[in-house]
Amino acid sequence: MIIEWRQQGNWFHDMANQCLQFPLLADSCQAVEGYMTQCVVSILFTNDTSIRRLNAKYRNVDQATDVLSFPSVHYPVGKTAKNSPSRLRKEIDPDRGGMFLGEIVLSGERARAQAKQYGHSLQREMSYLLVHGIFHLLGYDHNDTLQQKEMRLMEERALQLAGVSMEGDTAMPSDNDLMAMARLAMQRSYSPYSHFKVGACLLTADGRVFQGCNIENASFGLSNCAERTAVFKAVSDGAKDFVAIAIAAETSPPYPCGACRQVLNEFAPHIRILITWEKDKVERTTLPDLLPHSFGPNDLP
Ligand code: THU
Repeated sequence: MIIEWRQQGNWFHDMANQCLQFPLLADSCQAVEGYMTQCVVSILFTNDTSIRRLNAKYRNVDQATDVLSFPSVHYPVGKTAKNSPSRLRKEIDPDRGGMFLGEIVLSGERARAQAKQYGHSLQREMSYLLVHGIFHLLGYDHNDTLQQKEMRLMEERALQLAGVSMEGDTAMPSDNDLMAMARLAMQRSYSPYSHFKVGACLLTADGRVFQGCNIENASFGLSNCAERTAVFKAVSDGAKDFVAIAIAAETSPPYPCGACRQVLNEFAPHIRILITWEKDKVERTTLPDLLPHSFGPNDLP
């Protein structure tokens, strides 16, 4: 998913560090929904006064609130994004680079007050509000207890996949989750020269996931592959114990290049590798298969 960031006043500036995981969370929602088309959402950060004005204008509720969602699609009753492809197709916006799902408005002021009230971190509160807003844009609602239960279940699954759930006993992401997250990371590929989009999703032994995409440069040799983007993000955040990596491309299998095999070998010589392309083609391999007789840290005196 691609996020368009907007702010009123200084609210985003104030909260920016609480929102670092928004792309991962947004992709987790899409992966859990199983709706893989390239999507764009706009997020407006504002304060209580402005969100109250919007709430009064569009919902006839003259009160400040934490989050408002404005879906661009009217979903048929009981349907969500994954079973409304024709309605969503009308929302393709080439200028925005994907399917425009709608807008989410967040009150930073309200998020801060609620985090305090619930006794959890502001980051946790912002993560929940984003996920709640995105499921509204994907067609979920909470008009009755049944709908509410379903929406809450989806939210919890997305928070678990992104590793920010507060519930105990969260399951490790499955291979399918990792491949979905690699496919969604591919949407943020910066590849204006090769037009070959690649996405990766790296899993650590403790269940954290790090996404990456390929990032090219006008000086071609400086381009970075998706796999190395994910590895470098992880290592720079203190994670090195990698157990699996999913790599996704559109039309042909994205086997990691020699440089990425060597970089993976530095940290995880036995890592499992999931290659996926087209809609559902999958090949499973391991680094020892792709890089036999490797040279690594143990070969140095
Ligand atoms: N690329 C990757 O990101 N990963 C691979 O496994 C193979 C190649 C990128 C590098 C470059 O941006 C583009 O794909 C074409 O080589």
